[in-house]
Amino acid sequence: MKICITGIAGFVGSNLAEKLNNYGYEVVGIDSFEDYYSPIFKRHTAKILEKQDIKVYELNLCKDSLSNALDGVDVVYHLAAQPGNDAKTPFENYVNNNIYATKNLLEQVKKLNSLKAFINIATSSVYGFFATSPETEIPLPVSPYGVTKLAAEHLVMSEHRNNKFPACSCRLFSVFGKRERPDKLCPKLIKALANDTEFPLFEGSLEHKRSFSNIEDITQGLILPLKKWEKAEGEIFNIGTEEQNTTKRCIEVAEKIFKRKLKVKMLPKRPGDQLTTHANVNKSREVLGYNPHVSLEEGLNTMINWYLNEVKDVVEY
Ligand SMILES: NC(=O)c1ccc[n+]([C@@H]2O[C@H](COP(=O)([O-])OP(=O)(O)OC[C@H]3O[C@@H](n4cnc5c(N)ncnc54)[C@H](O)[C@@H]3O)[C@@H](O)[C@H]2O)c1
Repeated sequence: MKICITGIAGFVGSNLAEKLNNYGYEVVGIDSFEDYYSPIFKRHTAKILEKQDIKVYELNLCKDSLSNALDGVDVVYHLAAQPGNDAKTPFENYVNNNIYATKNLLEQVKKLNSLKAFINIATSSVYGFFATSPETEIPLPVSPYGVTKLAAEHLVMSEHRNNKFPACSCRLFSVFGKRERPDKLCPKLIKALANDTEFPLFEGSLEHKRSFSNIEDITQGLILPLKKWEKAEGEIFNIGTEEQNTTKRCIEVAEKIFKRKLKVKMLPKRPGDQLTTHANVNKSREVLGYNPHVSLEEGLNTMINWYLNEVKDVVEY
């Protein structure tokens, strides 16, 4: 079975590629190496993938022909996106990389005779300030990211409703781990503690509650719809960890591992930030047999070891 992953040089995409490859699937991927964060780091990741015989095509979903990358593909995992809630990111980047990119990808994928499954990767940000509900809740996003990712999910699922396009969608919750986007909490925390530098903290965020979901549990969860496609087709699933922790607790765990106190630099409150995420994964458990198990402590330990041994003095991150 041949699988194409969009956004393969990114955080979740690269981890998913390695997992699928280890399971014996033939994996290829597409990435445009956007400069939202270091393209040098993404190219470093792409090289690691290529060494494992995972072919990475440098293509932009918004404008390039994807026919080489999609040739003979049975399954598409669509992860390419403009992520994050960052006031500095122009609105058109969200529109282009989340909406147009998805639309163009769908147009090209629909021409494939070989396609059996299209797995869209969505986000808990579609729920808005409080992401605690089952998939049936009416989405109320509060950021350009959440709004445009919801639009992308609708584009995919409307193809399913209109044309029986074989699709499902997985909404991920605060993923952390190896190769996490450097603008997120855990990488910033780890870098600040490892280098004894200041950690920028948005006012009010210490009490934010998150389902910090380890990349191991997430990639495991993303493989399940593929394995149980007859149950997954046409459905939306929350994929995350039920364990909930505050930002404060995450900082305390990291401080304990490093045996060092964090130097905090307060920044003004950031609009559009979710206040509470708590993955309700009842449906994924029941339908897919999803069973997340990695704790915050275990996940942070693994991530810190990865950073210290494979990144810190090796590549810009
Ligand atoms: N990381 C999380 O906590 C999280 C949570 C919820 C949902 N998600 C979703 O998971 C997916 C992956 O997120 P991530 O954290 O790995 O982000 P990421 O930025 O690390 O990966 C996305 C990749 O997509 C590529 N890309 C962007 N626009 C493209 C385009 N037009 N053509 C080709 N490639 C393009 C980027 O270069 C990048 O490498 C996204 O769809 C995101 O919405 C992530």
